[in-house]
Amino acid sequence: MKSTDKSIGTTPNGRTDKNWGDSRSMSALQKNSETPRFSNEAMQEAERIFKRYPEDKRQSALLPLLHLAQRDFGGWLSPQALDYVAEVIGIPPIRVYEVATFYTMYNLKPVGKYHVQVCTNISCWLCGSDGIMDALTGKLDLKIGDSSDDGRFTLTEVECLGACANAPMLQINDDYYEDLTPEKVADLIDRLP
Ligand code: FES
Repeated sequence: MKSTDKSIGTTPNGRTDKNWGDSRSMSALQKNSETPRFSNEAMQEAERIFKRYPEDKRQSALLPLLHLAQRDFGGWLSPQALDYVAEVIGIPPIRVYEVATFYTMYNLKPVGKYHVQVCTNISCWLCGSDGIMDALTGKLDLKIGDSSDDGRFTLTEVECLGACANAPMLQINDDYYEDLTPEKVADLIDRLP
């Protein structure tokens, strides 16, 4: 449905973009809405993040808030989670969707306990990322983009992760593994608890 006032967006709660957030309180957002909602610890962290920015620039907290939500909501961001982040910041959901769908570090579907992200960009490709990926697809018996049935692994192909000097490399959850070979990758997977 189109808004009659094109300068004012409509929020999921039916409030207008213009007044959205005027009466927001962090604790009210946490207690009075349906799941997913930030845990107490995540809400405190959100408040710390907002303090880094001027009050009228809350949207600048979008990237760290998405990271926080992803950690707090089990490693991925559902549409409801994205709507919630928009609500917490006080911006239209489309602003959150635009960002969350652009960056590969935001997972828009559930991932396994170990999210294996293999860089196949130019430096890693020149240094053998094809072999790394082949070793992983064979070892994990997964296709790129798939998760294992037991929920342990998700295998993803990603763009440059900024560790080109030590290519080829991959990331598992928050950790980087560099100067890899297919043999090292197989051993790495075997050593995961
Ligand atoms: S190309 Fe792989 S980390 Fe940069």
